[in-house]
Amino acid sequence: MTEQQVLECRGLSVGYGAVEVARDIDFAVPAGHVLALLGPNGAGKTTLLTTLAGLLPQLAGHVVVEGEEIPPGRPRTANKCGVVLVPDDRALFAGLTVRENLRVASSSSSMGFDEVVDIFPALARRDTVAAGDLSGGEQ
Ligand SMILES: Nc1ncnc2c1ncn2[C@@H]1O[C@H](COP(=O)(O)OP(=O)(O)OP(=O)(O)O)[C@@H](O)[C@H]1O
Ligand SMILES: [Mg+2]
Repeated sequence: MTEQQVLECRGLSVGYGAVEVARDIDFAVPAGHVLALLGPNGAGKTTLLTTLAGLLPQLAGHVVVEGEEIPPGRPRTANKCGVVLVPDDRALFAGLTVRENLRVASSSSSMGFDEVVDIFPALARRDTVAAGDLSGGEQ
């Protein structure tokens, strides 16, 4: 007898409109198992979880929960099938750029943009990106 799969992804591609973040994702989680998803900052972990929760439509492929296919971008349907997303959160101004966020923060701190970049050099390349478009770890 095959073990019942609680969650299955088949040929899943996730991303934002024309921007594909990860593709060809295939996995199945049997009942009673825990799956941990590991990867570097920006790899697409949160994008995948947001897609599984139906908050972001997949670009291709299928999400199946307890045998029922979840239509793309339907959070209520996903939730009714038992999918719950518990997000982390950060106090950023999503519409402001990285540099603008740091400028706001520097009004209550002695650190400016250059000092922060000394500690997190990867931010130098992202200074004009909106904070809301960064990955979680980058935020
Ligand atoms: N709202 C968005 N619009 C456009 N691109 C985005 C958006 N959110 C994230 N991205 C981009 O998608 C890619 C994957 O981001 P994601 O947040 O899924 O990564 P992650 O694996 O969760 O990283 P982390 O470990 O830092 O949390 C990154 O390049 C990120 O900049
Ligand atoms: Mg993340």
